[in-house]
Amino acid sequence: MKKIILPLSTLFISLFSHMEIMAKTVTVSSPDNKISISVNDDNQPNYQVMFDSEPVILPSALGMLFKNAHGFSEGFKITSINKAKVDSTWQLPWGERKNVVDNHNELLLTFTANRDSANQYKVRFRAFNDGIGFRYEVPEQKGLSQVEITNELTEFSLANAKESTAWWIPARGWNRYEYIYNTTNVESVDRAHTPFTFKLPSGTHVSIHEAALVDYAAMTINQKRPGTLKADLTPWSDGSLVKTETNFKSPWRTIQISKDAVGLLNSDLILNLNEPNKLGDVSWVEPGKYVGIWWGMHINENTWGSGEKHGATTNETMRYMDFAAEHGFSGVLVEGWNIGWDGEWFNNGDVFNFAKPYDDFDIAKVSQYGAKKGVRLVGHHETSGSVTNYRNQMSEAYALYQKHGVSQVKTGYVADGGNIKRIDENGIVKKEWHDGQFMVNEYLHSITEAAKHKISINTHEPIKATGLRRTYPNWIAREGARGQEFNAWGTPPNPPEHTAILPFTRMLAGPMDFTPGIFNMSFNGLGSDRNRPQTTLAKQLALYVVLYSPIQMAADLPKSYQANLPAFQFIKDVPTDWHESIAIAGEVSDYVAFARQERDGNDWFVGALTDENAREITLKLDFLEQGKQYQAQIYRDGENAEWVNNPYDLTIENKMVTSSGKLTLALATSGGAAIRFKALN
Ligand code: NOJ
Ligand code: CA
Repeated sequence: MKKIILPLSTLFISLFSHMEIMAKTVTVSSPDNKISISVNDDNQPNYQVMFDSEPVILPSALGMLFKNAHGFSEGFKITSINKAKVDSTWQLPWGERKNVVDNHNELLLTFTANRDSANQYKVRFRAFNDGIGFRYEVPEQKGLSQVEITNELTEFSLANAKESTAWWIPARGWNRYEYIYNTTNVESVDRAHTPFTFKLPSGTHVSIHEAALVDYAAMTINQKRPGTLKADLTPWSDGSLVKTETNFKSPWRTIQISKDAVGLLNSDLILNLNEPNKLGDVSWVEPGKYVGIWWGMHINENTWGSGEKHGATTNETMRYMDFAAEHGFSGVLVEGWNIGWDGEWFNNGDVFNFAKPYDDFDIAKVSQYGAKKGVRLVGHHETSGSVTNYRNQMSEAYALYQKHGVSQVKTGYVADGGNIKRIDENGIVKKEWHDGQFMVNEYLHSITEAAKHKISINTHEPIKATGLRRTYPNWIAREGARGQEFNAWGTPPNPPEHTAILPFTRMLAGPMDFTPGIFNMSFNGLGSDRNRPQTTLAKQLALYVVLYSPIQMAADLPKSYQANLPAFQFIKDVPTDWHESIAIAGEVSDYVAFARQERDGNDWFVGALTDENAREITLKLDFLEQGKQYQAQIYRDGENAEWVNNPYDLTIENKMVTSSGKLTLALATSGGAAIRFKALN
């Protein structure tokens, strides 16, 4: 018999047309069947998402384009389908809860194009009860090895952009993530950071973000056409977006979905899409509370640099250590201890020396003094965005701190967006964004280096959180939004609604070092027209429960706490590590209330806060253990409290309660309440 040899391309086409019959639309649903993802390979592969028969994401493009290779856009067909299910529970070494449930259905699709190079990629979709995630996986293949992504085509198309409300901050701006939130309809959004949270006309709440951002550029979202939001990756200084090689995976693109605002707060989707702990035994990672030589600089009582008002002196540090030991704090942060702060430090990062203290700061003496009292020095490395200078000193700097018993370092990258200074392989200065691929890798490098020295890192001016704390539990907190410091000099400071927006936006990404607890709000006088915390005192206390972080600062000066020890008692009592957390009430930008149970104990804590409007909220106490008696130690706004001229009016009272009871809280304008439920039996 005569053999017919078909050219390879013909064979490919016949195989291909056979496979094409396999699928046009493939669907995967969440375990509770409420959320479904349908993927279709007509023309350009696309996906859509439904929630309770409401379209949340309309058919939206998938794919990416490359420099010097065929892109993954039109003409790809689904050529294999794999499904899987997971229902497991895993544990966080520290966190807002101990046990995390990962229950999802997975769909792994292979897309293939009818050509013989750069013709294959996979997309892995996961449907959870609280939202979905998907990521690109690009295997080795002919015509693709070194990869430069020039465009990620992922879109998020919305049905009702004009009628949907978004709370968002601009991306690619000079102030990184530190903006006051905009509240607009989705159609008016320009280029925004994620988590990008919005509410559909039906009341459904959605938040777009990403998980496991490693060796890739951060995704911001850009409105391409009205209602079509597109992935917009932050570029390198040379304009390319991602440089990698095949066998790479993109971060997960995530869409959290809930019938109400509170549901977003109870979602573990981002953590569930990250890899398990890679650091092994992390018992050296210590949640806790700290005070510090810090606020004094922000309100101009002290300076970071040397001179008469130098904050970071040996004596001042020992005084803070006395205060910390007396009141049960585990750490004292000291900023301005090392050479480099004199002059315009924010434009002069190259002169920072991370191993050389100022003459009036004796690092050995203070750390030994602290050790005797059970208080650690908390380290500080401000880089001013000169990251090569920092990289060159990093391991020496962490070794020095480790030698002195420091187990936590706050890092800082104060530099305008797009102005991170690196020196490349050829000695040439390049300016990068804080959220481009170069910095994504640089931040993670500091985490893995610090881990070698058993040091945890609290990054300021960070890359946004994407759940990597699961994989690297020593990435203990970060900033990445307007924090308390803006209330010292922000002009304008954070408005009353700011902390009623953060939980539903920035905090969905992970812990924030907001630094609550300013007791003296009158450093510039009271009123509404100056820099000061625009809150009541009770709201400052509520922040410890509302804004989750495993490390919390008591940010004010010791003298402010000494002047109000009864209110300070709440900060002393509140834990920073939780067995369980439940968001119990809230609407984005209006109010929010959380209940959290301490780890390894029976007490519960509640924090509730409101925006500029006073309101009454009633909380069911059914989160408490049935049959137990609790003493509710309540710190609430007094009768006459209001944030503008009477922020200090605070009532502290005790009540006996059980799980069958209710508690009605009257919150003042920009007010709050903080409660400890002390278990009695
Ligand atoms: C900005 C940080 O957010 C702040 O906490 C710190 O004090 C300054 N940079 C100086 O490093
Ligand atoms: Ca900052």
